[in-house]
Amino acid sequence: MSSKSRVTAIDVGNDCVKAIFGKFDHELYIPNVIARDTEDRPVIGIEELNDKDPLDGIHIRVHSPALKENNVIYRVGNLATKSDNPTELDPGSSKSEEDQTLVMLFASLALDAVREENSEIFKKSNNVIDANYTLGTGLPLREVKEGKDVGYRAQLLSSVHQVEFLVTPKYQGLKVNIKFDQVKVYPEGFAAYINLVMDNDLNIINRDLIDKRILIQDIGGLSTDVAVIKNRNVDDDKAQGFNIGVSEALEQIREEIRSKHGVELDSRRDVVDIITRKNDRNHIMVKGSRTSVHDITDRILLELAKKQYRFLRNVWQKNSQTEICYFVGGGSMVLKDYLKTLNNNLDGYNIDFFEDEKESIWMMANAYYKLISDFVRKNNKEQPKPKEKEKQAAAK
Ligand SMILES: Nc1ncnc2c1ncn2[C@@H]1O[C@H](COP(=O)(O)OP(=O)(O)OP(=O)(O)O)[C@@H](O)[C@H]1O
Ligand SMILES: [Mg+2]
Repeated sequence: MSSKSRVTAIDVGNDCVKAIFGKFDHELYIPNVIARDTEDRPVIGIEELNDKDPLDGIHIRVHSPALKENNVIYRVGNLATKSDNPTELDPGSSKSEEDQTLVMLFASLALDAVREENSEIFKKSNNVIDANYTLGTGLPLREVKEGKDVGYRAQLLSSVHQVEFLVTPKYQGLKVNIKFDQVKVYPEGFAAYINLVMDNDLNIINRDLIDKRILIQDIGGLSTDVAVIKNRNVDDDKAQGFNIGVSEALEQIREEIRSKHGVELDSRRDVVDIITRKNDRNHIMVKGSRTSVHDITDRILLELAKKQYRFLRNVWQKNSQTEICYFVGGGSMVLKDYLKTLNNNLDGYNIDFFEDEKESIWMMANAYYKLISDFVRKNNKEQPKPKEKEKQAAAK
């Protein structure tokens, strides 16, 4: 055994990647945006470059047989947002079949592996770091239902993947070889349920909830998933996925603020801030005057909330013995007040939200972390011989 295996849980969300590492000693949150670069971007003075945050300048070449297009140079995250050809995942696409998913996954791992703090666990020679990981991640229920998790996992396990840092602050010139010792791919809806009812050691923390029939509506950037939980498991046949999230509405608000008030907001994140902040919510400054944009935000968000409410109603009607629905994901934070009002005026379902926005957005990553940590603990306890280990893996 060369390097030690580092535990990691990564949620490759359509909007943002959330990653947790080791003993929760490192976290990453990176917008899921990449842009192809044909050549190295202009090199700027290394001193100037190293003053910057690596996360604002992720510029890499990725080698991996798992990719459809190998050896391509990408700008990733914030740096890609600023380029003129950024690509975000298409609502209709499959996460498990997109190079973008792998590029984001490998970039996150490489950014963890190069950290000074990890020099003790990973071997480094001549600017090449050998990094071994035990990964817990997930795919939308729909893709797991189609069996796509099997190929996705096999691809990750079957080879070494290399990330080469090009013009990236602090890491320019470093290469990271990523090898997976173990990969677990969980269905997203099930993971959310695990997070609700169990703690980090998978002890039950919510006895009230564990045997209930519940729905979990996850409103993300580009997609909405409703998981149906029954008998402590996801009911695959009942779960529903919709190709609509909250990003489109945020973009529309940004566009209307631009055309009506001539104010250019930098990103969707700015829109989120305007509609969720405690003070001066739904107001912007226009030429130095405080101006309400409530008319715009209200109309667009109410429209989206109505759609989301229809999804809920649709699934609830087919699962009439449901006891409660939890709203999770970043989109739930944005739509919370609208959904609550609609529900009060309409069907009055038993619904609930999370007070803490971080809890809502990191739900999946936290769940994968609990599941993969538990897997590692059990595996270490048993210490099976290599042969048996293979058999177990095959049985999965
Ligand atoms: N703190 C916050 N409060 C409210 N909304 C937020 C917050 N942070 C992010 N958002 C918004 O929530 C949306 C993303 O939510 P989330 O991170 O759950 O999506 P995702 O998991 O990346 O996407 P998907 O589930 O479609 O794969 C974005 O549109 C983002 O602007
Ligand atoms: Mg998500």
